[in-house]
Amino acid sequence: MNRLKNNLVVVALCLLCLIVMAVFYISGGFLGKSRSEETDNNDHLIMVGISQLGSESVWRTANTESVQQALSKENGYFPIFNNARQNQENQIKAIRGYISQKVDYIVFAPVTETGWDTVLMEAKNAGIPVILMDRTVDVEDDSLYVTRVGSDMHEEGKKAGMWLEEELRDKGRFDEDINIVILTGNKGSSAEIGRTGGFAEIKNKHKNWHVLEEVDADFTTSKGKEEMRRLLAKYSDIDVVVSQNDDMTFGALEAIRDAGKTTGDGGDIVIISFDSCKEALELVRDGIINVDIECNPLQGQYISDVIKALERGEEIRKEYIVDENVFTKSNVEGYINDRTY
Ligand code: AHR
Repeated sequence: MNRLKNNLVVVALCLLCLIVMAVFYISGGFLGKSRSEETDNNDHLIMVGISQLGSESVWRTANTESVQQALSKENGYFPIFNNARQNQENQIKAIRGYISQKVDYIVFAPVTETGWDTVLMEAKNAGIPVILMDRTVDVEDDSLYVTRVGSDMHEEGKKAGMWLEEELRDKGRFDEDINIVILTGNKGSSAEIGRTGGFAEIKNKHKNWHVLEEVDADFTTSKGKEEMRRLLAKYSDIDVVVSQNDDMTFGALEAIRDAGKTTGDGGDIVIISFDSCKEALELVRDGIINVDIECNPLQGQYISDVIKALERGEEIRKEYIVDENVFTKSNVEGYINDRTY
């Protein structure tokens, strides 16, 4: 009899435990939210699929952080992030994934300029607005994306050329033969195409500017160093290095130092860089880099503003160009402390 009683007590206790656990689970545990409440909360958020092209540079990391901060849950978004690791196929796959998840918006930084027509048409057919971040695309029909937030890369290249014109004039070298090597970012990306084209526009006005070589160094420090070392071994008379981002510049500077040459004002080689991350601005201040053409990665807030405007049914522009500066030793000081990347 006693044994039966004990068994009943054990069964009752087990049932009680199960009931307590179920109530705890349904109520969302310690957070006090039920699962259905959680889903309802997310239902109010704007779902955005973000396809970032990679993580090759300091600039790219800052760009990723900027968009992730702006499109956060606290700001009313449900972001889904994918890093394509420099591979267009990965980006296409990510975008198709976002289409099948029926996201509200797609934000993507295209690794190359061409090859997007089909997947963007799929997004358009699904009624999902696409916002280009940073770089642009070359598509037959520009209604395949609603807007672009980014830089004017062609203008950046022109600024580099115009700075060099002025510098050579100031130094009394305007009519001298000037030998230039160009470290480009990934061939076929709009950053490379724009900067190369913009610089060429100015270079073509000067018959005495000779581009000895233009080489793809992937926007990375290691490739910048490797290519610069090779160029220094091949050409003994390089006057100017145009390096299309700071990461490649850091590598090039190492190779130049290893070769026993100097850079900057009064040095053997003039250094023109792009991006203007904090470490590079410090080198501008220290007279190691002559000029840095800014490319502004802080695009997240602009993208959020565009999405909020679309949500309100407002008209938006086809392109938003972020503010950008040109830094030399004479103006850089006041900008270094506030630089966050
Ligand atoms: O598209 C912007 C460029 O891409 C930046 O200059 C470079 O650092 C990045 O990788």
